[in-house]
Amino acid sequence: MASNKKIQELKKRREEVLKGGGEKAIQKQTAMGKMTARERIIQLLDRNSFNEYDLFVEHEARDFGMDRKKLHGDGVITGTGTVNGKPVCIFAQDFTVAGGSLGFMHARKITKIMDHALKMRTPLIGINDSGGARIQEGVNSLAGYGEIFFRNTLNSGVIPQISVVLGPCAGGAVYSPALTDFVFVVENISKMFITGPEVIKTVLGEDISMEELGGARVQSEITGNAHFYASTEEECFKQIKRLLSYIPWSNSEPLVHREVHEPLKKYNISKIVPADKKQPYDVRDIIRAVTDGSDFFEIQESWAANIVIGFGTLNGKTMGFVANQPLVLAGVLDVDSSDKAARFIRYCDAFNIPIITFVDLPGYLPGVAQEHAGVIRHGAKVLYAYSEATVPKITVILRKAYGGGYIAMNSRHLRADFVFAWPDAEIAVMGPEGAANIIFRKEIEEAKDPEKVRKQKVQEYIDKFANPYVAAAKGYIDAVIEPRETRSVLLHAVEVSGNKTVGMPRKKHGIPPF
Ligand code: HXC
Repeated sequence: MASNKKIQELKKRREEVLKGGGEKAIQKQTAMGKMTARERIIQLLDRNSFNEYDLFVEHEARDFGMDRKKLHGDGVITGTGTVNGKPVCIFAQDFTVAGGSLGFMHARKITKIMDHALKMRTPLIGINDSGGARIQEGVNSLAGYGEIFFRNTLNSGVIPQISVVLGPCAGGAVYSPALTDFVFVVENISKMFITGPEVIKTVLGEDISMEELGGARVQSEITGNAHFYASTEEECFKQIKRLLSYIPWSNSEPLVHREVHEPLKKYNISKIVPADKKQPYDVRDIIRAVTDGSDFFEIQESWAANIVIGFGTLNGKTMGFVANQPLVLAGVLDVDSSDKAARFIRYCDAFNIPIITFVDLPGYLPGVAQEHAGVIRHGAKVLYAYSEATVPKITVILRKAYGGGYIAMNSRHLRADFVFAWPDAEIAVMGPEGAANIIFRKEIEEAKDPEKVRKQKVQEYIDKFANPYVAAAKGYIDAVIEPRETRSVLLHAVEVSGNKTVGMPRKKHGIPPF
């Protein structure tokens, strides 16, 4: 049995480390509206579930006065705990200790818990609050980041990796989050950039604030680096718990099973899509009209809003939803929405989550800006991601499915398992107006009354192609269904896809148009 003296010594040592960067630094942290690293972990994990490791790790740096510096825990807290009653591995950088900067031993603590997460098949949650590579440790801190990036890549698709950015994060401190599956940011607290305002001032002579450069809004609305935005740290932790209630703990875990409730009556699926085909509507209402309890957890809500992605459940099981959003840019596919959809499809596929796709789009966005931004390469990611995915893939065409958009949005040709269409669906190479103007141009121009002939020709095109029956006659669509049948048809399709097995050609890996 340990003597009283030894126990007192342990307590004293623990107390010393728990002081973090000291009272003054903690006060500075609190004044900025930030919790301390330890408070964050306690708040996020289930009550009393946190077990900390490597409390007594010390740095070994000797240059630039580091030999005289004691950095408690070397600026990072690591351990295990539970969320929603299930085990997770976690680390939180402590900004009060040398700005949470990443030295060699700091990195070793993180990589140790990352290896643990992989071995134990638990999600890894990283709370980042760091000035990046510890400048005094030179290449040793760069080596530390390299080791983290390597593990982020190794873990990718095996266990969920969740990053929370809760401070000014620079350099390596943002590249690790960028390699993970979901990034959470908080208003006024999160800042992400590769090179900070001071470097920009020196190199480019430009003045810019951290907020304007890479604040939470910038990352959620402009860059798409962040997946979830919250007003406070508390709200952010609730979002993380909610995310974890949908996703499997690893790629070998069965789907999460939640309680089943019928969708709410206020989402009447037969009344959401306006009769006037030019009128937009919110496709999220369609998703809520089919999911259990009308529950939908949207991801990257404010970026590339012309496509909607997120999780909901059908018959208690998690599904990934991908839907064109007619409310924004008529739901077109463009550079950003293609990236957004493609990455999410790959996430669902890696973690065995079936994908439900709702289609209503006029195609890819035309224009010089999009072409020059690489819409060919980015748009191809959607084709690649759907074609490569082997999870159950179910499509419902609600209204327009034109051109490349028809093919890209999980068509039969990319191996959708089931394709359904509503009676109002229009499947064609392009919209009737554009099509008639091109293929009947001469007839229209030469007519006595060009406008009358143009209208006739548009109608002819509508009669021929602007319906789901041409595609249904070829078997490209499995069934034309009434809107009110959608949930029951989806429930059945998911049920019969439960044992889906498909083979892919043997290869090391494909080469997606990254
Ligand atoms: C060592 C650091 C540090 C770093 C901050 N600190 N960043 N120490 N290495 N990288 C220390 C400060 O010296 C200070 O110590 C304490 O942390 C708090 O920092 P402040 O500057 O007082 O805080 P604040 O004003 O809030 O500014 C935060 C900051 C700024 C924006 C993060 O500190 C900053 O710009 N840091 C450098 C960022 C950077 O360029 N990092 C390298 C990126 S390159 P004291 O003792 O005074 O409290 C990189 C390589 C990997 O990461 C790239 C991979 C692709």
